[in-house]
Amino acid sequence: MIRLTRRYRFSSAHRLHAAQLSDSENRDVYGKCNNPFGHGHNYTVEVSVRGPLDEATGLVVDLQALDALVRERVVDAFDHKDLNRQAPEFAATPPTTENLAIVIRDRLLAGWGDTFSAGGTGLERIRIYETKRNIFEVNGKS
Ligand code: NI
Repeated sequence: MIRLTRRYRFSSAHRLHAAQLSDSENRDVYGKCNNPFGHGHNYTVEVSVRGPLDEATGLVVDLQALDALVRERVVDAFDHKDLNRQAPEFAATPPTTENLAIVIRDRLLAGWGDTFSAGGTGLERIRIYETKRNIFEVNGKS
């Protein structure tokens, strides 16, 4: 079993705001991230996969297939978008990077079976670098 991590980047705008909380509670919880006009991040996402080596090629994953899956399901969906308004998952859910990690994991898993054969390459972990100090991880399977 070998693990491989590949890195992707996209930039998005968001505003952290929870509909269940009052405006003052939102300001207390999220601070400047609750700014009504939003702000942006240059996210780096690491997608880690695992699987057996293909004996003939010596490869653990078809990188072109992985790139296509991540591009179609994640990068094209989020790059230069307003997550609150343009990603359906965040219409009623705060687009924290915690939630973004879970959404990315679920988007990749939704397309995984069409991309990779059963028993082959599996999704090991999603890691997102939001800022130099904030790094988030979620396991491939919930
Ligand atoms: Ni932010």
